[in-house]
Amino acid sequence: MRAAEGSNRTARTDEAWWHSAVVYQIYPRSFADSNNDGIGDLPGIVAHLDHIAGLGIDVIWLSPVYRSPQTDNGYDISDYQDVDPLFGTLEDLDVLIDAVHARGMKFVMDLVVNHTSDEHPWFVQSRQSRTGPKADWYFWRDARPGTVGGEPGSEPNNWGSAFSGSAWQWSPDRGQFYLHLFSARQPDLNWDNPAVRDAIFAMMNWWLDRGIDGFRMDVINFISKDPELPDGSVTDSGYGDGMPYFAHGPQIHAYLAEMRRRVFDGRPDTYLTVGEMPGVTPEQAREFTDRVHGHLAMVFQFEHVSLDHDGDKWTTRKVTVSDLRETLGRWQEALADAGWNSLYWNNHDQPRAVSRFGDDTTYWRESATALATVLHLHRGTPYVYQGEELGMTNVPFDDIASFRDVESLNHYADQTQRLRVEPRVVLDALRRSGRDNARTPMQWTGDPGAGFSDAPPWIPVNPNHCWLNAASQVDDPDSIYQYYRALIALRHSEPVVVSGDFTLLDVRSETVYAFRRRLGDQVIDVVANLSVERVTAASVDLGTDGILIGNYPSDRRLVGALEPWEARAYRR
Ligand code: GLC
Ligand code: CA
Repeated sequence: MRAAEGSNRTARTDEAWWHSAVVYQIYPRSFADSNNDGIGDLPGIVAHLDHIAGLGIDVIWLSPVYRSPQTDNGYDISDYQDVDPLFGTLEDLDVLIDAVHARGMKFVMDLVVNHTSDEHPWFVQSRQSRTGPKADWYFWRDARPGTVGGEPGSEPNNWGSAFSGSAWQWSPDRGQFYLHLFSARQPDLNWDNPAVRDAIFAMMNWWLDRGIDGFRMDVINFISKDPELPDGSVTDSGYGDGMPYFAHGPQIHAYLAEMRRRVFDGRPDTYLTVGEMPGVTPEQAREFTDRVHGHLAMVFQFEHVSLDHDGDKWTTRKVTVSDLRETLGRWQEALADAGWNSLYWNNHDQPRAVSRFGDDTTYWRESATALATVLHLHRGTPYVYQGEELGMTNVPFDDIASFRDVESLNHYADQTQRLRVEPRVVLDALRRSGRDNARTPMQWTGDPGAGFSDAPPWIPVNPNHCWLNAASQVDDPDSIYQYYRALIALRHSEPVVVSGDFTLLDVRSETVYAFRRRLGDQVIDVVANLSVERVTAASVDLGTDGILIGNYPSDRRLVGALEPWEARAYRR
C-alpha cells in the first residue's frame, strides 16, 4: 500500500503541468498604463494579454500589486488581501484572472512574506508595545549591552542590509531595534511565531480560493533565521554578512512542509510554487524540489546571475563561456533525476541580459536570440521577463535623478556620502548593474510615450523605443518576438525539450556553448556561438540538414562554421 502510494505520487508529479510550461513575468508598474497617470495598472495588462498569449505562454507571474507604500515598488506590502489603488481594484484583478484563464493561461501571484511594509497593521501594532498580541511578530532586540540604543554601534549585531547600511532600525516607540534584511521600511516577519504562520497560510488559502494558480515566493529561503542572530564576517561594505544565519535557516524545511500541508495538499489541483532563493546550492535545490519529498515545484537560483559579480554586484567582471557552462551544466546535472530547474536570464532585479551577456549593438538581434536558444532548450521551466521577447536593453540613464530603485538610490548615497566615492564612478556601476535597467516602461510603440502611457511615466522610457518596440516586431517573421514564439512552440511540440536528459558538448570551447538532449531515440543538439567571431565547433556536426530552429536566415548558414552569435538546434 505504502509503495503503491509512493509510486502514484511520483507518477503524478512527474507529469507536473509546469514541466512543459513557459512563464512570462509582468512588472505591473512598467507594463501598460490604462488611465494615463504614468504608472502601469491592471486594466493595462488586460488590454495587452494577446501580446503574451501570442507568444504561446502558459503562465503569467505578476509581481506585487498589493496595497503598499511602494518603497520597493510593491515588495513592501501593507495589506496582503487588497490591490493598491495605483494598480486598480480587487475587481480589476478578478477581471484579469478571468481574462488570463480565458486564453488558456495560468496566473501566479508574488508572495512576499519574509517581510511586510512598516505600514502593515501587524507592524504598526508590533511597534507599539513589548507586550501586545503582535509584540513578537517581528525581530525585536535590545541594543548591544553597554551602548546607548539608537547610536551607531548599538545595533544588536553587525549585519548589513541588502539595500545598504545596517540591517537594524531603532524604534524609539519600543526602545528596541527591529531587523530589516532589505530597506528599513521592510521589517522581517518572525516565522518562529506560530500566529505569524497561521496568518500567512490563511492569506495564501484566501488567494487560492479566489482562483489563482500558484505563487512565486520572494526570498523564501530567508524566512527561518538562526535565533541567536550571530555576527557575520565583515565584508568590504564594513558590515557583517548575515547570510549564513538567515539563508537556509534551521526551520526552513519545517516551515515549507507546514505550508505545503496547510495550503496546498488538501486541494484537488496542483499549483506552481517557485521559491526565490538567493545563495541556494544545487544540493539544497534538489531537496526543495524533489518530486516526491520536496515542498516546492522549483526554485530560482542565483549562481549564473552572480558570475559577473566581482566581490559584490556593483563591481563586475567578464563572464566566459566556460563560466556559463560550468554553472548551468552543474545545475542541469544536479537536478537531473530529482528536482526541477527554473531557467532565466532576466527579471525585475537583473540588468537586461542582451546588454549583460550579449551584444546590444552590432549583434543585438543575433545575441538576444542566441541567449534565448540556449536557455529555452535547457531542461527546466523557462521564464520570460517583459520586454525580453523584444530584446529590450539596458538604459543610458542620464544622471542620478533618472533612477528610482531604492537599492540603487541607497547605494549611491552610501558610496558618495559615507565612502566619498566619486559620483561618476557610482553612476557607471548603477548604469551597468542597477535594477532600473529592467524597470523602464515596456516598449509597445515608437511613439513618445512608447505606447506605455500618454503621461510622463514614473521612470523615463528607454530612448531606443523609437526602433525597439513590439509594434515593429510582432508581425515581422524575423523578429526576436517571433523567435521566442518559435522556441516556445518547440518546447510544446518536442517531448525531448521537456524531458530529455542533458549533456554538455564542446566542453573546452571559449566561444561555443553546445549541448545534447536525448529522450529515448529522440536527440537534439543545440549549438550557439557566444562571440563576435566566426567559429567552428569541435564536436557538433554543423551541416545544414535537420535544423529545427536557427537565428540566421537559411541562405546565410555556413556548413562547418557559425557566424557571430549564431545559434542552431538540430534533430539528430
Ligand atoms: C526579492 C525581489 C526584489 C525585492 C526583494 C525584497 O529579491 O525580487 O525585487 O526588492 O526581494 O522583497
Ligand atoms: Ca495607471
